[in-house]
Amino acid sequence: MFNNIHMPMIEETLKTYLSTIPDGNLKQAISYALLGNGKRVRPMLGITLLESLGINPLPYLNALVAVELIHTYSLIHDDLPSMDNDTMRRGKPTVHIAFDEGTAILAGDALLTDSFYLVTETKALTGDEKTQIISILAKKAGSLGMVLGQIKDIESEQKQISIEDLNLMYELKTANLIQASLMTAAVIGAKKDIALYESLGYYIGLIFQIQDDILEYTLTPDEIGKSKSDELRDKPTYVSLLGLDKSRIILNQYTQKLNHLIQTLGLENTSIHDQIKQLLTRKK
Ligand code: IPE
Ligand code: IPE
Ligand code: MG
Ligand code: MG
Repeated sequence: MFNNIHMPMIEETLKTYLSTIPDGNLKQAISYALLGNGKRVRPMLGITLLESLGINPLPYLNALVAVELIHTYSLIHDDLPSMDNDTMRRGKPTVHIAFDEGTAILAGDALLTDSFYLVTETKALTGDEKTQIISILAKKAGSLGMVLGQIKDIESEQKQISIEDLNLMYELKTANLIQASLMTAAVIGAKKDIALYESLGYYIGLIFQIQDDILEYTLTPDEIGKSKSDELRDKPTYVSLLGLDKSRIILNQYTQKLNHLIQTLGLENTSIHDQIKQLLTRKK
């Protein structure tokens, strides 16, 4: 989707990580999940932000890619029969279909745990910075973040929930990992603005997820590269609660707030600004 110069450095970092895992089923399942055609939205945002701040991201790649491991683990577990029960992800069969459920669960467990190890293996970071980044990733991924959002998601099936509850769920399950990637870059290059980058990640995440609802509603599984389970499982989404037109109006309102924040941060017309625009006008 992105025509981005950073893609090769992300893929290289992921491959180097994979090369450390002993041969066998676990390595195969982790490689299968990680090397699909993921958009790499989260590491890309962190890397591009560092560049826009005038910092070379190369020495920090392990820490910037760690969030992609957490994201990939969340997708593997999200697709399991006991969760969304989906059979297609990143344009191919889901991990529990291509392997088996036990292997899928363990591949997810390993990815989550290894993400923290990758941060500790980032030699350019100080000890304090490693602690801060691990703390951010843990907070945004665990029982205060993405996992909390995922349980809200499961509990919302076949329920009529308010738009406020839906927003909270989207903040937790989708925005939190995007916030984590921008905040990781901010720990390295803009410590005093961490809270503003957290807000920026909030708007990007919310817009990204509303757009995901619209795309899932308007496109085919082949076009989006994953199963369409929202309707099947009777999940509340922006489109099911508000309809397509109102969803698009709200998306535009959030985009205005995001643009204001970009101005406040002095990021207008930088590469991170371009990347956010590209991401939030994605067609699949
Ligand atoms: C999918 O995330 C799950 C959501 C939060 C919408 P992405 O759309 O970033 O998935 P990949 O990484 O490109 O597969
Ligand atoms: C994906 O969420 C996993 C997380 C956001 C943690 P969804 O279930 O809403 O997204 P898709 O449709 O499977 O990608
Ligand atoms: Mg889900
Ligand atoms: Mg799902």
